[in-house]
Amino acid sequence: MKLIHLTDTHIVSSGERLFGLDPKARLQAAIASINAEHGDAALCVISGDLVNGGSVSEYEALRACLDPLALPYRLMVGNHDDRHNFTAVFPDSPLDAHGFVQSTVATAEGRVILLDTHEPGVHWGSYCGKRLGWLREQLDEAGARPVYLFMHHPPFAIGIPSMDRMTMRDDAPFAELLGGYPNIRHLFFGHVHRPIAGSWRGIPISAMRSTNHQVALDLETTAPVPKNLEPAGYGVVFIDEQQTIVHLHEYLHTEALPA
Ligand SMILES: [Fe+2]
Repeated sequence: MKLIHLTDTHIVSSGERLFGLDPKARLQAAIASINAEHGDAALCVISGDLVNGGSVSEYEALRACLDPLALPYRLMVGNHDDRHNFTAVFPDSPLDAHGFVQSTVATAEGRVILLDTHEPGVHWGSYCGKRLGWLREQLDEAGARPVYLFMHHPPFAIGIPSMDRMTMRDDAPFAELLGGYPNIRHLFFGHVHRPIAGSWRGIPISAMRSTNHQVALDLETTAPVPKNLEPAGYGVVFIDEQQTIVHLHEYLHTEALPA
């Protein structure tokens, strides 16, 4: 099974730019690349910071961008999103019983679970008891099947001080819950605008670049977040019973060299 992991698209209203870049054009290029090269993927997940300012007009611009996407897709919310405006423009996007943008997808290789770590008004994330209760139900229902988690904020530090100020807080009960489910095969996250791989409490993890601006590997600065022009990317993920392979696809930098 193939999945596409897109994240931090940071769409702005039509005609606007963000850090000198055009987020809409860069997402449109990503979608053209996905349609041309990965039309066989089972699902595309966009793991939050869908838009930059949370306005209805930005979500409408995002929806227009997503129209040509040839795959089933699911959208998640991040710190730059607005849950109310998101659901107004994407009324068919599934929510949990409390209105959080959380859902599951049954796939051929197991259960994909999409989490909502958005906390209104701040850039760090949270995962309250209501959300945790929902996640426990989804994990219990999965039984022995493999589980693949997606979330916007990582529940751990990554060693970049400017981002480590805005991880998902209340990580301890979350970690404790996950510890009871050895069938969690991978945790995908956004927020950090960098390709990162490793493991957390024994769970393999990976993050992807933004389709717009990137976060520098700056190990000193605490604020503001140091951004740069490293290439845009999205993730191409192969999953089967034996393995999970995550490719970073820098889709704007694919010109072949002469033989
Ligand atoms: Fe972001």
